[in-house]
Amino acid sequence: MGKLLALAIVGVLGALIGERLVAFRYRLCASREYKPKRLPNCHLIKGIETGSEDIDILPNGLAFISSGLKYPGLKSLAPDRRGEILLMDLKEDNPRPVELRISRGFDLASFNPHGISLYIGDDDTVYLYVVNHPHQKSTVELFKFVEDDNSLVHLKTIKHELLPSVNDIVALGPDSFYATNDHYFTELILVYLETFLGLTWTNVVYYSPKEVKEVASGFYSANGINISPDGKYVYVADVFGLSIHIFEKHENLSLTPLKVLPVDTVVDNISVDPNTGDLWLGCHPDAMKLISFDPENLPGSEVLRIQDILSEKPIVTQVYVDDGSIIQGSSVANVYDNQLLIGTVFHRAVRCEL
Ligand SMILES: *[C@@H]1O[C@H](CO)[C@@H](O)[C@H](O)[C@H]1NC(C)=O
Ligand SMILES: *[C@@H]1O[C@H](CO)[C@@H](O)[C@H](O)[C@H]1NC(C)=O
Repeated sequence: MGKLLALAIVGVLGALIGERLVAFRYRLCASREYKPKRLPNCHLIKGIETGSEDIDILPNGLAFISSGLKYPGLKSLAPDRRGEILLMDLKEDNPRPVELRISRGFDLASFNPHGISLYIGDDDTVYLYVVNHPHQKSTVELFKFVEDDNSLVHLKTIKHELLPSVNDIVALGPDSFYATNDHYFTELILVYLETFLGLTWTNVVYYSPKEVKEVASGFYSANGINISPDGKYVYVADVFGLSIHIFEKHENLSLTPLKVLPVDTVVDNISVDPNTGDLWLGCHPDAMKLISFDPENLPGSEVLRIQDILSEKPIVTQVYVDDGSIIQGSSVANVYDNQLLIGTVFHRAVRCEL
């Protein structure tokens, strides 16, 4: 009897682990077929070689790009080089990125920029929020952009106990934002364990100097976050949930879940076309390849566009797919007029004319 019981327990445990493994594998790789899908007018951007993790663009065509992310468990092509913020003017015929100088007093040596977000103040001051991981910690840096000499003036470093492990950020004002946050684990291996166990412990936090509060929770791994052009809706990418969560944003800054749109791919960043409200997503066709980087089996890239996301039948279009032979590990896609920029976690960046 004892033996039978033990066998039964082993069987049940085995089945449970098997089920979790299948779910885990699904979360990392989705299930679709990926055929390369190229666009006719795409070029690698010269001068971006070690990542273009996140991109945000001003209405005047100035694109800000965070480069050089070092994150536990993810590949870096320049592990000893500090990170940087690059600027590119998309109104030029042949735009070239330049590094933005950062004001003195900021610890540049440990600069490890991740998600970024721009905000234009009432007096036209341009604020840049940067999620930073100095020494693998997590802070949010607030800068003021000075266009005259392409520099960033560091205004302050934001840390808070509700922001222990920030991933991405969307600015709401000159001193407030929503951030996605993994509030338990910073080690990637533990993040995978969390995903493996099917835990949904990551959240969205609202920050202002007066108030910091959790406004949404229950994601497998909340990653990219962005806001609709009218400021009424907030979109959160659940990377390992293979979905986009849509929230209604209230005046008191709380968020009410509206719906979840499954996208069947490992979705990283969300950008929003300010003219159309379309969502552009940088996605990973196979996150396993991104994590266990193998030069013989490169991680690919995928860009999706979502139109009419609030309607009953949003239109999801696969715009670009590459098997890694051009760009590896796309983390963000951003449009400006007829241009599409595709950024990557650690690799290069592509500019396409649509
Ligand atoms: C883009 O993706 C990275 C995570 O891989 C995230 O940290 C970054 O903040 C995202 N940016 C946007 C605009 O969603
Ligand atoms: C915020 O506003 C919404 C909508 O009016 C309301 O349902 C919610 O209870 C409010 N939350 C707080 C914390 O006041």
